Amino acid sequence: MVQPIISPSILASDFANLGSHCKCIVNGGAEWLHLDVMDGHFVPNISLGAPIIASLRKQFPRSDPNPVFFDCHMMVSNPEQWIEDIAKAGGDGYTFHFEATDDALRTIKKVKAAGMKVGVSVKPKTPVEVLFPIVEEIDLALVMTVEPGFGGQKFMPEMMAKVEILRNKYPDLNIEVDGGLAKDTIDAAAKAGANVIVGGTSVFGAENPAEVIDFLRSSVAT
Ligand code: DX5
Ligand code: ZN
Repeated sequence: MVQPIISPSILASDFANLGSHCKCIVNGGAEWLHLDVMDGHFVPNISLGAPIIASLRKQFPRSDPNPVFFDCHMMVSNPEQWIEDIAKAGGDGYTFHFEATDDALRTIKKVKAAGMKVGVSVKPKTPVEVLFPIVEEIDLALVMTVEPGFGGQKFMPEMMAKVEILRNKYPDLNIEVDGGLAKDTIDAAAKAGANVIVGGTSVFGAENPAEVIDFLRSSVAT
């Protein structure tokens, strides 16, 4: 059985106060932090990279009793280029885009060799079936529910068909959804079978993040 996991995206945080803003979110009950790395090439935006992740890791040391899982979402053209840097910076999970590699299995092996969990993501126009041949090798599948590149976009409910297909075939797979997840969209995602929920604007932008995190988690659990 998969567990509900809430992975708030720091893209919607106050970057000048990143450490304290993340502390507030983690104290509010988030198990993971979703770290969106964008290279301005795979997506039309630049966000952050290994140096920021390394700084953040110092605020959330692995020696903590419940260490926060750093869920790195690599929106980059050459995902193999950054594996070592992200591992050294303290990344726990390395999710790259299927569209960005010509040999997903080779990339998967390199991520594992660097000691990280591996995820593979599909953009909205990519059929989920591309994941079937590699799914036994991965720890997580990420179904994008917006075009990657920006926070604050509208959730695409038509992506739920992909989540359903994956969940029916792979009951024990961590299935993550990312983009526009909030109180009004979580039911569709939960019903389709997603268990790892990214929330950027809905969590980091909330007046009471703990309440939103609880709401999202209990929607997945029921
Ligand atoms: C978009 C990123 C998302 C984004 C989600 O390309 O991958 O993680 O931060 O933000 P919201 O939840 O605001 O749509
Ligand atoms: Zn993301």
